[in-house]
Amino acid sequence: MSALMELVTLVPCCFFFIALIKFLYDYLWIPLRIQHMLNSQGIKGPPYRFIHGNNKEIAKMRQEASIKPMALTHDIFPKVQPQIYSWINKYGRNYLCWNGVRAELVISEPELVREILKNSEKTFPKRKPTIYLSKLLGNGLVTVEGEKWAKQRKLANYAFHGESLKNMTPAVIASVETMLEKWKGQEGKEIEVFHEFRLLTSEVISRTAFGSSYLEGEKVFAMLNKLSMIMSRNLYNTRIPLINKLWKPADMLESEELAKEIQYCVMKMVKKREDKVVNGEADSFGNDFLGLLVNAYHDSDKNNKLSMEDLVDECKTFYFAGQDTVNALLAWTVLLLAIHGDWQDKARRELWKSGDMLESEELSKGIQDCVMKIVKKREDKVVNGEAGRFGNDFLGLLVNAYHDSDENNRLSTEDLVDECKTFYFAGQDTVNSLLAWIVFLLAIHGDWQEKARREMTMIIYETLRLYGPSNGMMRRTESDVQLGKLILPANLDLLVIHAAPHHDPQLWGDDVHLFKPERFAEGIAKATNYNAGAFCPFGLGPRNCVGMNFATTETKIVLSMILQRYTISLSPTYVHSPIPYITVQPQHGIQVILESLYNDA
Ligand code: HEM
Repeated sequence: MSALMELVTLVPCCFFFIALIKFLYDYLWIPLRIQHMLNSQGIKGPPYRFIHGNNKEIAKMRQEASIKPMALTHDIFPKVQPQIYSWINKYGRNYLCWNGVRAELVISEPELVREILKNSEKTFPKRKPTIYLSKLLGNGLVTVEGEKWAKQRKLANYAFHGESLKNMTPAVIASVETMLEKWKGQEGKEIEVFHEFRLLTSEVISRTAFGSSYLEGEKVFAMLNKLSMIMSRNLYNTRIPLINKLWKPADMLESEELAKEIQYCVMKMVKKREDKVVNGEADSFGNDFLGLLVNAYHDSDKNNKLSMEDLVDECKTFYFAGQDTVNALLAWTVLLLAIHGDWQDKARRELWKSGDMLESEELSKGIQDCVMKIVKKREDKVVNGEAGRFGNDFLGLLVNAYHDSDENNRLSTEDLVDECKTFYFAGQDTVNSLLAWIVFLLAIHGDWQEKARREMTMIIYETLRLYGPSNGMMRRTESDVQLGKLILPANLDLLVIHAAPHHDPQLWGDDVHLFKPERFAEGIAKATNYNAGAFCPFGLGPRNCVGMNFATTETKIVLSMILQRYTISLSPTYVHSPIPYITVQPQHGIQVILESLYNDA
């Protein structure tokens, strides 16, 4: 009996003892060992604190920074990333800190930023998403790994590049026109553009990627927004062992509900597409991003097939990433232009130039089409036997030369058209002839069109440098690995802070906190002294932003259309307070006043 009693007490004691050893091993031994390993290589940082790591300090610093008033300067790094700013100053560009029990090596040295991002596929893959991030984006393109990533990336590349992007332009323009229509009659009054751009960017991604209106996606946007708020307020919450398994906090319960609701809404959208095909209203699922996804969901080839879960996660990812980021970029660019009126003028001047040039490009294409039609008419007459030759007039001679069997005498299509253009216009009045030469010269010197667009690009780059929406990129080490001169253990979390180099006076000079788009006059490579890690607002390497071209095209269209109608000035009620949610956002919005450039705008 006493042996049994002994056993009954001994077994739980053994369990408790083993659990205690494991707990101390995980929560004390491993962190101290990693800390020692990195300290001995010159990597310092705030010391590990039992269970909580540095989370309490970080939460306190962020809370204090968020309520501290700030002057209207662009030196926003201490405000949006207070702990990183302070620890980089104290411990150096790369330092070690603790997210609970997890060691996190923060990297902001441009050479190492570049090395990590360029090798993101295998050596420094993405981290497993936190619980809240997985509710927000699931296994969408931002978080997924391996073969699944390659498959999803291919689809997204196709949907957001080249021809597809061109086809989206009318939808973007139509969305901006709706916004501008609403602004009519608001001249001289205050407009809060962060909110306006939230609606606009939601409408744009809905129309371009999902073939629906903002109203249809409204519920999804609202729920994703809630999820992102929940996620950002839980970024530095420590997960206490065991307790988290037994008890779910209110935020977790709410995010589970939201994730389920979003799944339901997206599946309804997918069903609508499928029904259209089944009912014979459409003969395909569509060519937009949603159409591609639904096609992949129905793919009979197992290698290309997407599961319903992946499809939903991909929709969530693009609804969120496609809207939140551009929303912030547009709002911050308008703020900077409102403060720096001279850059509004510069951009507008260039826009008019590029508008003229675009028109010239259109004209040039139109003329070519007309000329070729006339040539075809002549050719048809000969083919149909209505005429024996192409004719003796100037056009006839040219068409003859176009068909010459001797290669040395033969005119190319381009030469034929140019020759016609010249003579058509030379025969008319001087203004037309001048126009013809302009058309002719611009058609040849396409680089001038690019020059005219460059000013807008410089403004966007400088906004991304000062107010880049992305706060950092999360990676881990797959195995023991060398990074620069450092030897890192496997499964170490890395946090790439690409915004730190953006605000570093050693890289950009003493005027680092000033808005000076001319830094980018000769492109990014020159501005950064060929140091790719010094400026990478869209990331680098294989996991860079798939929506980069979409985002910059959308931003250019929106800004161009606003600047062609209005001058923008900052409202006296504006309070400068950039804060880090998932993206860097203006805490109290951005209030501006618009004045029409024309009386009838
Ligand atoms: C100003 C606008 C934007 C900025 C600054 C931005 C920034 C970034 C950055 C820095 C990354 C790399 C993340 C990493 O390496 O961990 C990224 C990835 C990504 N972005 Fe964007 N983004 C913007 C707009 C967009 C838009 C409009 C879309 C969708 C249409 C989009 C979709 C994505 C996706 C799906 C990824 C993950 C790509 C992959 O891992 O293969 N982004 N973005």
